[in-house]
Amino acid sequence: MDKNIQEVMLTEAQIQSRIAEMGEILSEEYRDKNPVVIGVLKGVVVFYADMIRKITVPCQMEFMQISSYEGTESSGSVVVKQDIAVDIKGRHVLILEDIFDTGNSLSFVHAHLMAKEPASLKICTLLDKPERRKPGVTLQADYVGFTIPNEFVVGYGLDYNEYYRNLPYIGIMKPEAYT
Ligand code: IMP
Ligand code: MG
Repeated sequence: MDKNIQEVMLTEAQIQSRIAEMGEILSEEYRDKNPVVIGVLKGVVVFYADMIRKITVPCQMEFMQISSYEGTESSGSVVVKQDIAVDIKGRHVLILEDIFDTGNSLSFVHAHLMAKEPASLKICTLLDKPERRKPGVTLQADYVGFTIPNEFVVGYGLDYNEYYRNLPYIGIMKPEAYT
């Protein structure tokens, strides 16, 4: 285990087994719908690569990247760094995310994609931290891998200062590693 990780929250095996379960549900849901599966970079990359291979129906892969600027005020503003490259009007769209935290990012992404008039738009997130949700965020994820407590986690795509994304598990960082 990495020296800066205090505890493994989710092992590789736990993650893979949950992804296999979700794959069956998503494959059933999107049968004959040829969905566009949109990943929100960069945190989602590892989850995306595993999840997409458990979706057994024809689908298209797309990515977008956003940036969040947390100012002094409580509402962080979000901008699109890279938009998707296909027209999703009238298409069934599934958003894949690494974590649903305050809800800032997903609320923005959801509204941004809704404006493109998809036939349907659903959210699948690997992790959900409901305790962190900002008041006023009513958006909910349609598919959740794991609901987790309010701990800062890294690995399996999730970063701390851009590091730890390559850990194969999801771990809780040691507090002293933050300083
Ligand atoms: P939001 O607060 O729901 O908008 O989440 C914004 C982004 O913060 C997520 O997409 C992650 O990149 C990041 N984030 C939130 N919680 C964690 C965490 O526990 N570890 C690492 N990144 C996190
Ligand atoms: Mg991040």
